[in-house]
Amino acid sequence: DAPYLLRVTPSQLKLMNGRKGRDAWTALGGMVYNISPYVPFHPGGKGELLRCAGKDGNKLFNDVHSWVNYDNMLSACRVGIMVEEHASTT
Ligand code: HEM
Repeated sequence: DAPYLLRVTPSQLKLMNGRKGRDAWTALGGMVYNISPYVPFHPGGKGELLRCAGKDGNKLFNDVHSWVNYDNMLSACRVGIMVEEHASTT
């Protein structure tokens, strides 16, 4: 487990879209994951996975494979929890 979790606002999440040398983060079930290390392993490919980069991935994820246990698979990739826009501490 990560030693601590960041508090991530929607605008901060939007910056982490995998572009300009930044990692790609997504939010699933209120938890924020860095999906960049998982890109080479995604059975559905890089392009599909990165559609959820920098945004809430629940709709995209659940439309394709709602049965997949993402929190178990991405436990080492947890970086934060989603908070409201004004609630950032970083
Ligand atoms: C397949 C994990 C996000 C599209 C899979 C499979 C896993 C997985 C385990 C294989 C499922 C199976 O064979 O039953 C993940 C994880 C994600 C993620 C941990 C975390 C963000 C996404 C997103 C999309 C996507 C955002 C599309 C918008 C697909 C597609 C397949 C697939 C199309 C089917 C590949 C095939 O069978 O040919 N994913 N996925 N995935 N995923 Fe994802």
